Amino acid sequence: MKINRIRLKIIELLNQFQGKFISGEEISNQLNVSRTTISNYINELRNLGYIIESRTKQGYRLVKTPDKIIPEEIFRGLNTEIIGQTVFCFDTIKSTNEKAKILAEEEVPSGTLVIAERQQEGRGRRGKKWFSPDGGLWFSLILRPEFSPEKAPFLTIIAALAIKKVLNKYDIKPFAKWPNDILLKGKKVSGVLTELSAEIDQIKYAVIGIGINVNQKKLPEDIKDIAVSLKQFTGKKTNRIKLLQEILCVFEKYYYQLQENKEKEIITMWKKELNILNKEVKIKANNNVYQGKAVDISDGGALIIEDRKGKRHTFWSGEASLVKNQAE
Ligand code: BTN
Repeated sequence: MKINRIRLKIIELLNQFQGKFISGEEISNQLNVSRTTISNYINELRNLGYIIESRTKQGYRLVKTPDKIIPEEIFRGLNTEIIGQTVFCFDTIKSTNEKAKILAEEEVPSGTLVIAERQQEGRGRRGKKWFSPDGGLWFSLILRPEFSPEKAPFLTIIAALAIKKVLNKYDIKPFAKWPNDILLKGKKVSGVLTELSAEIDQIKYAVIGIGINVNQKKLPEDIKDIAVSLKQFTGKKTNRIKLLQEILCVFEKYYYQLQENKEKEIITMWKKELNILNKEVKIKANNNVYQGKAVDISDGGALIIEDRKGKRHTFWSGEASLVKNQAE
């Protein structure tokens, strides 16, 4: 489902009237379409889950907006210039990253958002599955950056930074776990999967896939000890559309910084957020395990660890864990 301008305007008008009635005639005058068309759209909205009361001579009144991923709801109140300005919404999809890559080949604009209520084959990093039932936020952004592929690791960093920054506002204390996880009390609440189509000197497109466990009441047995939802953590339901809009807005701000070559500022922010710097860590990468002190983030965004012999190793990706018996 894509944004439909008439449906959007009707939703906006119903909301402007905030629970009061607006006549079909007024809606039809404002939109310059027939009353029958309005009535058809109202029925369509009802089918989507909107509760809209209608009364003869008074018109329509919005009673309730559904807790659903609807393109017009994402668009309303989205304070961005490019990110999320084109939206593709799905109820069920295999993977939003996979769909985003297909769409990216079809020349959709940079900033396009692909989002679904649920994924049947959600993908995590390193070929892992990503459990994506109803209630979470599962989305991918298609970007066509003009900078060189060397800067691509920053796309994952700014996504993680944006998620962390927004979650900070939700009365919780998330941790950023290198390279791209957001944790709540040691359990994963969100992850980022960046996929790139590039030539040596040029990025054709990047797909930034973001998964956030939001309103799931329970997680399956096999991940319940390592993952958590916001709902489980705060006890409260979170408005997913608002959370998404906030993340897109902060992401865009960082994306512009990246385009303006402000990597230094991004690294400074990243270093403040990471939970492993100056700690003894184990990094699993390329079928090896390295142990050492996480000493720095390089100018290019890689993690640098120093082993016992003082030798430095650089990692662009991998799986990091803190060596036990250290203060968090
Ligand atoms: C990770 O392993 O931490 C990355 C998880 C990324 C999951 C998201 S959900 C939306 C997008 N579509 C996918 O198939 N994966 C990403």
